[in-house]
Formats: sequence, structure tokens, C-alpha cells
Amino acid sequence: MDLPAPELHALLSRVVDTAVARHESLPTARAVPAAFPSRDAVPGVLPDEGVGAEQSLQEVYDEILPFLSNSAGPRFFGLITGGTTPAAMCADFLTTIYDQNTILHSPGDSIAASVEDRAVEMLADLFKLPQDEFTGVLTTGATASNILGLACGRQYAGRVHFGVDVAEDGMEGCGAFEVISNLPHASVVKAMGLVGIGRRRLRSCDLSVDSIETALRSVPPDVAPIVVVSSGEVNTGRLQPSLPEVSALCKKYRAWLHLDGAFGLFARCSPKYDHFTDGVELADSITTDLHKWLNVPYDSAVFFTRHERILRECFTTTAAYLAPPDHAYSTSLAPTHPMNRGIESSRRFRALPVYMTLRAYGRAGYAALVERTCAFAKHVGEWIAAQDELELLYAVDLCIVLFRGKGGRREGAEGNKALVSAINGGGALYVTGTVWDGVPAIRLAVVNYRTTDAEFDTVVKGLKEAALTLA
Ligand SMILES: Cc1ncc(COP(=O)(O)O)c(C=O)c1O
Repeated sequence: MDLPAPELHALLSRVVDTAVARHESLPTARAVPAAFPSRDAVPGVLPDEGVGAEQSLQEVYDEILPFLSNSAGPRFFGLITGGTTPAAMCADFLTTIYDQNTILHSPGDSIAASVEDRAVEMLADLFKLPQDEFTGVLTTGATASNILGLACGRQYAGRVHFGVDVAEDGMEGCGAFEVISNLPHASVVKAMGLVGIGRRRLRSCDLSVDSIETALRSVPPDVAPIVVVSSGEVNTGRLQPSLPEVSALCKKYRAWLHLDGAFGLFARCSPKYDHFTDGVELADSITTDLHKWLNVPYDSAVFFTRHERILRECFTTTAAYLAPPDHAYSTSLAPTHPMNRGIESSRRFRALPVYMTLRAYGRAGYAALVERTCAFAKHVGEWIAAQDELELLYAVDLCIVLFRGKGGRREGAEGNKALVSAINGGGALYVTGTVWDGVPAIRLAVVNYRTTDAEFDTVVKGLKEAALTLA
């Protein structure tokens, strides 16, 4: 398996050349390939004798790379998809080369866990979360962070409402748990199933403080409430208003307040948009993705909580061969123990791209990124609102444009599907279909650091041409 240095150098050089060529080509490339083969065409058969690294690399060049999406490019607006900044790209290469396990050994073996600490501190600073109140850990995505949030909420509610330490003793002795929320992301509902709350235990409310209070008041005495707010909502980018009042209500009813800010928390990076997130710092736990608006590679997110003890109760792992679980908590001298704050034991050194991109571009770089992408989304929204063939369904607050086709063969479920296909098939941009308030619709989310005004004409031309094909 090993390779002599010159051969390794040749292979890696080819990869580095590809990195640079791809970086250069992304702004002009199609958003996604015109076609790609089905799963059966991927030659994933285990050979008796391996083909060797060079041949295997050639196969990847021939059979896989041409059919990957250009989701790191500036006109891929599907889901909520960031790219990879040059600093994060370098760091991610190095992460693979050094192959650290971000876990604390006793005795220590690496500075990796300290780098994660620093990365989390810088993120707290970027999001204006008081560093003496919040602690955090990197995760694989907002889904994982939402699982952490609901596990902590369940632990807190178990203690406060039922006097039970759920992490130690299980749910016996507890009543039921209920999540009160307005349009939670699907991953929150998944997390409800995973942590034993139950997917059906969702009590829907609207965004108003009155509605949240009515929901909290109607929870029976033997049921423990957890409130989950979206900042922002995945179809519209809409952010939960009145967070100070929501937080006061949660205190009154002893409900854990979890905030899913998978992308919306980035509004806090810019003085122009941070008013949308007033009161975020009052939440008990907070989710944010980093592979979205921070523009670091997959998979990367962060989870913050102001309740380190609850987090530790949920996630502490003990084994004779590992560093003791109380190792160096909250001292400035030694790193915290990431294994005891999240799901994984062995962990990728995903802190390095986060650390490096924050050091490289700083507060000002991310403020500018948020402002540029939000301005782009607003501009596209205004253009859509002025078209006969398209309809803007929601005023653009942040980075998401929600719209649908109007007239012709563009309306209804089939029309919407056809319009999404026509837009994506054109190659100029990529969008995702959805349903909003019962209406088939299309989302266009702008969080890539390479999306600039230079893309605007190409994007609106792609939208117009697609809409006109369905006259
Ligand atoms: C509000 C919200 N929460 C959670 C998620 C899930 O994020 P991930 O796919 O990183 O797990 C998303 C993804 O778009 C989201 O928008």
C-alpha cells in the first residue's frame, strides 16, 4: 500500500492541479452536470487484487469526477449550500494529511483538541455569544447539533419536571415530553424520535409570543415542554421574532429553549442584519451549520449551550484507557474534552478548516460575505417580483428567495416540477423545489462566498428562459 515519495508526489500533484483548475472553472461551469450515469454504472466492485493507487485515481478521474455537481460554485442555490474558502481548503487537505483524532488521550498526544476549543471560542465571538456563558462543540451538521439540543433539553426537563436523571436512569419515572415549535426543520423531528421524545410529540404554534404562551399553558402538568425556534426557517429564511419574550416564557414554564440557527445565526455577523437575531443569546442551546454560510467543507457544524453540566451529563464517556471525564473542564490551561460533549468518540479534526478560515478572513470578512449574499438574494427577489411569469412568495429577509411560476404551464405541482427541471436543466443555476403553505414553490438560497453581482445576469437569464419554455 505504501508508495515511494516521488510516486506519492506525482499523485498528490495531480490532485493539487485539479484543485486549482476546478477553482478557476467554477464561475463559468454549469451548476450541475448535464447528465450523470445511474448507480449501476459506478464500477464499485471489490477487486481480488487491487488496481493500485495510480490506476484507482485514474478511474476516479474518468468515471466519477465528471459527474459530480458544482455545488461549491457560485450559482448552485439548492438546499443551503456553501463552498470552501481557500483557507478552509488548505486546512482540510492538511486535516487529511495529519489525520488527527480530536480526542483527548491521557497523557496527551496532540494540540488538536485545543484548536477545536479555540475554533469554538472564535465562533462564539463571531456570533456575539457571551464566551463566559456558552460552551460548545463541533459536530457533523445541524442535524447532529439538533440531536444534541434535544438530548440536553430532555435531560434538563427530566431533572426539572420529574426529578429524573434520564441519562443515568432512563425515562422510567418521567411523564411525557413535548416539543413546541413553529415549522421545525425535519431534522428536529428526527431528533425527537432519536432522543425518545417521540416524533408525534410536536405541538405546533405560530411565531407569536401569545401562541407560544397558549401552547405552553395547555401542556398538561405531567408533560415536560421543550421549545424549539427556527432562526431561520428553511423555505423562507424567516427568523423567530421576540426572542427575549420567548425566553422569558420558557423560564416561567421551565421549558428548555433550543434555537435552530443552521444558517440564520449568521445574520449576527453583520450589523446590517443582526437585529433579526436579538435575544439569540438567551437560548439554552443553539445549532449552527458551518458547511453552509461559513463556507468550510462538509461535514461541519457547531452546537452551543449555556448548560455545560447538562451537556456533560448527556455525553460523558468513561473508559480506563481514556482521559478521565472530568479532565480539564473549564480551565484556561488545558483543552476541554470534545468526546464528552457530543456523539462521537473518535472525531475528525474538522476544527482546522474552521480555525483557519476564521483566522484568515475574520469578523470583517464574514460580515462582508453575509451582506453580499443577502444583497444578491434581495436583488434576485426584486427581479422575480417584477416578472409576469414568476411570483415572489415571501419578501427576502436574508439569503433565501421563495418563488413560483405564474401562468402558462408553470403552476401546480406538475408545473412547479417542470419549472425546477427547466431551470436546473439549463445549467446556469441550480434550485430546489418545495411546498410552502400548501403551494408548490421553488427555493433559491445564496450563501456561497463566490456569488457576486457578476452572476446576476446569468442567473436571471436562466430563470427567464426556463419560465418561457413553459408558456
Ligand atoms: C434550519 C435548518 N436546520 C437543520 C438543517 C439540517 O442541516 P444539516 O443538513 O447540516 O444536518 C437545515 C438544513 O438546511 C436547516 O436549514
